[in-house]
Amino acid sequence: MIVDNMDLKEAIYRRQSIRKYNNVPLDSQTLDGLRAFIDNTRVLNPNIKWSYDIVGPENVRMLQRFKSPHYLLMFSQNRENYLQNIGFIFQQVDLYLQSNGIGSCWIGAGSPKGYENPNPEEDFVIMMIFGNPKGELYREITQFERKIICEISDRRDDRLMPARYAPSAANTQSWYFTHNEDGSYNVYRNKRRIRLNKKMEKWNQVDIGIALAHMYVANQDTFNFSLDKPHHELKNKVFEGSFTI
Ligand SMILES: Cc1cc2nc3c(=O)[nH]c(=O)nc-3n(C[C@H](O)[C@H](O)[C@H](O)COP(=O)(O)O)c2cc1C
Repeated sequence: MIVDNMDLKEAIYRRQSIRKYNNVPLDSQTLDGLRAFIDNTRVLNPNIKWSYDIVGPENVRMLQRFKSPHYLLMFSQNRENYLQNIGFIFQQVDLYLQSNGIGSCWIGAGSPKGYENPNPEEDFVIMMIFGNPKGELYREITQFERKIICEISDRRDDRLMPARYAPSAANTQSWYFTHNEDGSYNVYRNKRRIRLNKKMEKWNQVDIGIALAHMYVANQDTFNFSLDKPHHELKNKVFEGSFTI
């Protein structure tokens, strides 16, 4: 179902992870449109080189069994906040796909297979499956399973709603926002109680970028991010940066 005139901002409140696809590939014009969109996304950190590739099921290994003709592999230099940067860039892509009637789902539990990374300077980070959805693409706002705003912020603030609806690995929603006197926000990541799951710690950093992408898309003209603003340390949380909207 193609919905006319849904923009990225509206998709924040309608999108859902899609795990059922039909096997009709997207046409080349649609894929070219996607590539053009990716080339024009905003980044969180301009100092980090990143790239992507679009491959078929023969080039991926996934823990789960669902399939689509299309997978986006994301690569990046491993430095500074590269995980957050990848989350930030490709959540714009998730919203673009969903607002254009295409299903998508971030896939942490997967990797390239039989694929030679063309750029050894960059590591494989994570991937996203996408394609024509089988079944409903959108959900109603009441169907989101998310923490209440007081659990993710030091104060009730409707301006943080776009971040609240963001997707995250296993729906962990490990973001926490605080308000500064100058009107800016700090964003923190909840530390995992048990550090057994190294992968989840990595994905939660991607999640922070995803939540920031929603704040950017909802405030495109004013959003500004800074990694190294003076800040308070919070117990059991990692400072991830500050932003204005
Ligand atoms: C970094 C990241 C990794 C994810 N990995 C997987 C995965 O391996 N398999 C899967 O089925 N869903 C995966 N998801 C999708 C989440 O489970 C989903 O976003 C979350 O449960 C919220 O649901 P929603 O996206 O439908 O709102 C991942 C999401 C993120 C952000």
